[in-house]
Amino acid sequence: MLAALQMAQGYDRTRFAFAEGKSLWGDPSGLGERQGEATQGERLMQLLQRRWIVCEPDGTDYRDFLAAKTNPLDRKHLGNFHDRVGEYLTLELRLRDKWTWWHDQKFQPDGTAMQPGPYRAVQDHFMRSVVQSRNLRGMRILDFGCGNGHYARLFADQGAKVVGVDTAEALIDLARHNHGNLAEFRFAPGDAAVVDLLSKYKNCEFDIIFLSDVLLLMLGAKAEGLTEAIGALLDQFRRLLRPGRGELQMMEPNATFFLAGRYGGKDLPYAIIPEYREPVFNVVPTLDRVVALMAERGFGLVGYQHPQLDPDEGDADFAGWAHAFPLWDFMTFTPVAEFLSPSGAVNRD
Ligand SMILES: C[S@@+](CC[C@H](N)C(=O)[O-])C[C@H]1O[C@@H](n2cnc3c(N)ncnc32)[C@H](O)[C@@H]1O
Repeated sequence: MLAALQMAQGYDRTRFAFAEGKSLWGDPSGLGERQGEATQGERLMQLLQRRWIVCEPDGTDYRDFLAAKTNPLDRKHLGNFHDRVGEYLTLELRLRDKWTWWHDQKFQPDGTAMQPGPYRAVQDHFMRSVVQSRNLRGMRILDFGCGNGHYARLFADQGAKVVGVDTAEALIDLARHNHGNLAEFRFAPGDAAVVDLLSKYKNCEFDIIFLSDVLLLMLGAKAEGLTEAIGALLDQFRRLLRPGRGELQMMEPNATFFLAGRYGGKDLPYAIIPEYREPVFNVVPTLDRVVALMAERGFGLVGYQHPQLDPDEGDADFAGWAHAFPLWDFMTFTPVAEFLSPSGAVNRD
């Protein structure tokens, strides 16, 4: 059906003409010569409309159908992306562990391998190049929000001594089952328990604290900004790292990740989430907010990279998108010895 709709629109949204050497001036739409196919597409659209598979684009019934859902049981309206995710999570996955759905779209259910897709082709590919580019032997690494321990295992394979911490018990169980002989995995049932657990480790105990796709969840769930829980956590991170040497590495989705559903893949739902500056759903924190938050807690940004697509996966469905835009930001912060708190007071170690 999606393929038919794409054809009906007369071009393939997953490929950019710019990626094929067309310039912005020469082809401002980025759609290239594919617009020539629109006649065939129009014919198909008329057919779909006659059969009520697709409604008139300017029809009020169509617009009403696209409106937000009034409640999770509202079947009359299609709703926005979040309504649909919410409906799916509430009605179909309510009996399952809340992280299982997330886990199974990234990994094989047994947690031993990643599913093909952007995580494997961009995120995992990048992390493999990061760990191979430096000597981790003997380093102490905390994988915070480690999930099923996939990256903890990657660090341990390079000779690091790794502790993985997470609030999802099912994922910690999986991590222990798959990689428990290589790294230590600790479960903590919630923010306060996590801070309590971290407080048991010594000052400067870790060389690296690594978070992959974790901070956005914490900030997203706590829309009002720096809550006590996040502050307490960042204070622990700061205490656990050596000023000027220790690294807090965070890999978070780039804001454009959420447009990839519109442009990035043939099987992805069509949705634009105008999230970045107006965080209605708090899906991703803005970069300036992340950097300001870290500065307030005494961390300076010392590294910033966009993970790149694995060239061997270049013909994957979403590859055009991943070439043109970053899917993740990889940021490295280090504790600074002296910093200004939001009140203007100077903090020193
Ligand atoms: C999107 S998953 C990422 C898992 C893993 N880092 C990876 O990249 O595969 C987010 C993880 O953060 C964990 N998490 C969420 N809030 C947390 C918190 N306050 N403390 C520790 N872990 C947390 C979740 O349980 C989940 O496993």
